[in-house]
Amino acid sequence: MRLQFNLFEVKTPPLVGVDISSAAVKLVELADAGRGKYSVERYIIEPLSRDAVVDGNIAKVDEVVDALKQAWGQMGTRIRHVAMALPSSAVISKKLILPADLSEDDMEIQVQAEANQVVPFSLDEVNLDFQVLGPATNSSTDVDVLLAASRKEKIEDRVAVAEAAGLKVSVMDVESNASQTAYEGMMHILPDSARGQTVALIDIGATTMHILVFVDKVMVYSREQSFGGNQLTQEIQRRYGMSFEEAEKLKRKGDTPDKYGVEILQPFTETLALEIGRALQMFVAATSFSRVDYIVLAGGTAILPGLDDAVASRTEASTLVANPFAGMVLSGNIASAKLVADAPALLVACGLAMRRFDTP
Ligand SMILES: Nc1ncnc2c1ncn2[C@@H]1O[C@H](COP(=O)(O)OP(=O)(O)OP(=O)(O)O)[C@@H](O)[C@H]1O
Ligand SMILES: [Mg+2]
Repeated sequence: MRLQFNLFEVKTPPLVGVDISSAAVKLVELADAGRGKYSVERYIIEPLSRDAVVDGNIAKVDEVVDALKQAWGQMGTRIRHVAMALPSSAVISKKLILPADLSEDDMEIQVQAEANQVVPFSLDEVNLDFQVLGPATNSSTDVDVLLAASRKEKIEDRVAVAEAAGLKVSVMDVESNASQTAYEGMMHILPDSARGQTVALIDIGATTMHILVFVDKVMVYSREQSFGGNQLTQEIQRRYGMSFEEAEKLKRKGDTPDKYGVEILQPFTETLALEIGRALQMFVAATSFSRVDYIVLAGGTAILPGLDDAVASRTEASTLVANPFAGMVLSGNIASAKLVADAPALLVACGLAMRRFDTP
């Protein structure tokens, strides 16, 4: 499944993956290292203020443009082409089953007709895209087709920010799709590459928790809920009477007051583990799956000390922290320990950067 809103070029020039999300603007540049390997050339995480991006919408355009400019300059790349993503919530997607022998034009007509049914606004206001996924499960004469629709303004907002920062958008992807690309690249870190197993990839950012479940390379479930690292920051703020920024600093630094671990951090990781347990119960209730075999934690909140253990004991599933760069070569100026700590938050940006290697 590779969605690309077709107003953009399909060929992929060298490009940088750019994830604009609530905590930061994150950029990743990968290169081909030969022999089927990628190398991490550069990356950067440029923090944003708390209300710059809200619910996936760019609320403070000037601040985001400045952060993007700053990040790009500091990263020291020459590549101005970027791959960006729309928040999954801004995209309506639906799987259709269509006859395999339709011509491209007829398929487009069918997709349009279907879109009319599922899109709650006029198709004039929408960018529509579709992709044939492959043969349908229950019929040899049909194919599964994925339809994706997003309001034009959602795309235009992001393109405008990129352009104001001097960049050119070559690919407009969807966040969940970029996460999937990054996940496929790191499946080999799971025992036996998780063949035939049910794997939940849980991205816990500042405000949102995304739950994607895969069996091999097929996404069988996707959900998001409002829960993230900001809740811990706010708790720190409240307990110590600090500003949000100070609390954020304290959280990341790790050299925290005596009782922080027991009184604030542990209860938070317990609550988060409980939320994850509930989310997975919902997955089981909504699907024909009875359990999850592995949990991969991503997002900036994934690296909280003890979270993986808390999740593993709550859910009884083997749990590990994501590293979308696992197995990649590191270019000279990248410190490996720093990258491992930053890697979970770079899931989407890494998946976007991997679009550079799409075969047209
Ligand atoms: N070293 C760290 N220790 C603890 N928490 C951290 C650390 N680094 C980042 N975080 C937390 O991770 C969160 C940011 O994660 P991430 O970058 O994945 O979010 P985001 O993608 O911007 O947000 P969202 O997906 O919700 O829009 C923040 O709450 C931040 O405080
Ligand atoms: Mg995120």
